[in-house]
Amino acid sequence: MLNYPRVAIDFMNNDHAEFVALRKYLLDLLHSGADHTQVDTMLDNLLEHTRLHFAEEEKEMLAANFTPYPVHKGEHDKVLADMAARIESWKAARNVTALSDWLEHAIRDWFVNHVSSMDFVTAAYIQSRGQS
Ligand SMILES: [Fe+2]
Repeated sequence: MLNYPRVAIDFMNNDHAEFVALRKYLLDLLHSGADHTQVDTMLDNLLEHTRLHFAEEEKEMLAANFTPYPVHKGEHDKVLADMAARIESWKAARNVTALSDWLEHAIRDWFVNHVSSMDFVTAAYIQSRGQS
């Protein structure tokens, strides 16, 4: 189980739950020795989900004039580039251990840390602006 906080904006919580489910589904697929094309499809889904989620957060931050926007956006861009590169190298090398390690550890640590810090603060700010 991933231990991360709920934030003040519902769509973000829903997307975070979906991300967690996608990650778990992928790990289960890998551990069950599933066909690589199934894994490819799920990885593409994970990337697309993350891209859309980030875009939505960024739209909300801009609408709320969130000053630390460039920092949060910078981390999103870094994560998307890394995720795309990981998927490419998986498709080239088909290294199950490398892919599971990345999902198991790096993605978990990044996700928990990002939601607990940047998303938590950003959501609280956007929500407080919406109420004023
Ligand atoms: Fe974020």
